[in-house]
Amino acid sequence: RERKRREGVNLLELSASYFRERLKMPEGRGAREYLERRGLSAEVQQAFGIGYAPDAWESLKRHLGERGIAESVQVEYGLLVQREESGRTYDRFRDRVMFPIRDVRGRTIAFGGRVLGDAKPKYLNSPETPVFHKGRELYGLYEARQANPRLERLLIVEGYMDVVALAQFGIRNAVATLGTSTSEEHLARLFRMVSEVVFCFDGDRAGRQAASRALETVLPLMIDGRQARFLFLPEGEDPDTLVRREGQAAFEDRITCASPLSEFLFDQAATGRDLARIEERERYASQVLAAIARLPEGVLKSLLLGELSRRTGVDQSRFEALMARDVAATP
Ligand code: UTP
Ligand code: MN
Ligand code: MN
Ligand code: MN
Ligand code: MN
Repeated sequence: RERKRREGVNLLELSASYFRERLKMPEGRGAREYLERRGLSAEVQQAFGIGYAPDAWESLKRHLGERGIAESVQVEYGLLVQREESGRTYDRFRDRVMFPIRDVRGRTIAFGGRVLGDAKPKYLNSPETPVFHKGRELYGLYEARQANPRLERLLIVEGYMDVVALAQFGIRNAVATLGTSTSEEHLARLFRMVSEVVFCFDGDRAGRQAASRALETVLPLMIDGRQARFLFLPEGEDPDTLVRREGQAAFEDRITCASPLSEFLFDQAATGRDLARIEERERYASQVLAAIARLPEGVLKSLLLGELSRRTGVDQSRFEALMARDVAATP
């Protein structure tokens, strides 16, 4: 298995260099102009190994073939697509800006490719392969650790461009999930490296929903000493657009002011509810209690129960009894 992994990584590394070379060639001109329009400096393009997949059906395929890499392997590692009916193969990534996805040791394990225009899909990612599992990997983690081996905090953003733009503006601790929601596995990995994560999703409905899901996911991992905070961006902004508009210092202020988990938890349950009404206060309390119940035993859990009791005027012991009853009722 280890041999297989090496073979795959080698092929992916060859592909990454190929894409980087193509970006410098005449055929990469459109992509270079695109990157310039997006404001990516040469340094940051280099740090993230950004490249270009040419507008052709068999360009990478030929390049790898000449280096003795079997088509079946290229298919297995997601670089070629194989037509079901005819069995014919062709390059998966065509006419896209290429972002290599690296594992924590810096080995390229997959790619994300962005169209230069408005075609769909906007981003095309490698499929699951023997070395790439979307639910586990985070874009930018290797680069963040390269920039600072003693990281204390990581920022979780939605997109490739967010990670890269933040890095260009001196915020070198952002990582992105790869077109999936943040999984417990992602968070468990991050908490092995840092004690604090800050969720910073896009300022749109999808981003706010992602934050709610992230709250649910992070709750069971909140053992004492860990911190999770939530940074909400103005409507229509994402980290990339905002850091360009406001600059590094303003963005860092926003990070400093991000809501702690406890605040987001209560605020979210209160949203859209008139807490002067008893029935709505009941739903508010139930929602908060359900979240608290997902926390591991610890100081944070006790403190939040105390706070819920203060906010609702119901005895903490009542909430504890309710929680114990719900646990007993869970099959
Ligand atoms: P967004 O739609 O917010 O795109 O998707 P973005 O990152 O801001 O991209 P730019 O600024 O227009 O270039 C967030 C992330 O969701 C995944 C990608 O990882 C993207 O960065 N995604 C999005 C896909 O995988 N495929 C898509 O078609 C769109
Ligand atoms: Mn898998
Ligand atoms: Mn978005
Ligand atoms: Mn964007
Ligand atoms: Mn976005």
